[in-house]
Amino acid sequence: MSQSSTQNPGFVQVRDLRRDFDVSKPWLNRVLERAPRQYLKAVDGVSFDIRKGETFALVGESGSGKSTVARMVVGLLPPSGGTVSIAGISMTEQRASQERQRLRRRIQMIFQDPYASLNPRWRVGRIIAEPIRAFDIIQGEADITARVGELLTLVGLHPDDGKKFPHEFSGGQRQRIAIARALASNAEFIVCDEPTSALDVSVQAQILNLMRDLQEKFGLTYLFISHNLAVVRHMATRIGVMYLGRLVEVSEGKQLFFVPRHPYTRMLLDAVPDIAMVGKSREGVKGEIPNPISPPSGCTFHPRCPLVFDRCRIENPPVIDGVACHAVNEGRVAAA
Ligand SMILES: Nc1ncnc2c1ncn2[C@@H]1O[C@H](COP(=O)(O)OP(=O)(O)O)[C@@H](O)[C@H]1O
Ligand code: SF4
Ligand SMILES: [Mg+2]
Repeated sequence: MSQSSTQNPGFVQVRDLRRDFDVSKPWLNRVLERAPRQYLKAVDGVSFDIRKGETFALVGESGSGKSTVARMVVGLLPPSGGTVSIAGISMTEQRASQERQRLRRRIQMIFQDPYASLNPRWRVGRIIAEPIRAFDIIQGEADITARVGELLTLVGLHPDDGKKFPHEFSGGQRQRIAIARALASNAEFIVCDEPTSALDVSVQAQILNLMRDLQEKFGLTYLFISHNLAVVRHMATRIGVMYLGRLVEVSEGKQLFFVPRHPYTRMLLDAVPDIAMVGKSREGVKGEIPNPISPPSGCTFHPRCPLVFDRCRIENPPVIDGVACHAVNEGRVAAA
């Protein structure tokens, strides 16, 4: 490990993460139609660090690979290549599996649709107590019940709500329950995949504020995923922009909104009316996302890029200084 990385190690380290999906037709069709196997590169060489206590946001259009990254980071999906380590423990190496088991408790995930992730036949109290029992965090029914009441209060619900079933709550309240369950195991790192995308705007703000309060209180680290730039701006310490399975720009804090550097980031920001890039002409998002099964050569953004030149069609631009763009890296564009 190099000097600098020992001094400031990322709590979460993701290196050259890849995931292909076999999207071939069934065997018989392939033989009859002489069709080759087909693979979709959902995540194609993504690297980033998350520091302890910060919110690292991944933003990008639907299909850019955000959820696939999330599932690999928490160990729900094995990568095709690359590594993930959390608190120095590998999530991807086979032989670290015992340590990984202990690490599990410290990592939780919150999904877009809390209803799908809450057992409809269990009372809320039992749902929240489940990780406490599974990890043997508290012993004795009375103490467990007290802790569940405390967790419900912490997320803005009432201890008596533990007696109800998930369907008796609104979408926002159900997301509060999912958050309480995530906290029940004393998690330190929470991966949130579009946690408020299914909620009304006013409810979204309440849940986002709750998440920020809890982060401050417990020093939580978040990987926060959203397709919504306004939401990301509210939450993020740093932001990674994804396009077709690759990270095209990583920026510190709100920097991205003032000086977007990658042409795709500029296009995304142009499309959001209430995020000011005052005094600039708006062009909006042009063109469609290409088919990820046969992505464009070189820089996969090149068919949509206003700055495209020859090199872009041949070479995949490396991430240099937080941006993966030949034009930026060759100094062909001044910062916006
Ligand atoms: N299990 C799967 N099998 C085949 N393709 C998948 C699977 N999961 C995701 N994909 C594809 O991988 C790409 C990235 O998907 P996803 O990670 O869900 O993106 P996002 O969360 O940014 O919308 C998409 O093209 C999607 O269709
Ligand atoms: S590498 Fe080329 S095509 Fe890709 S974003 Fe930069 S200028 Fe555009
Ligand atoms: Mg997704």
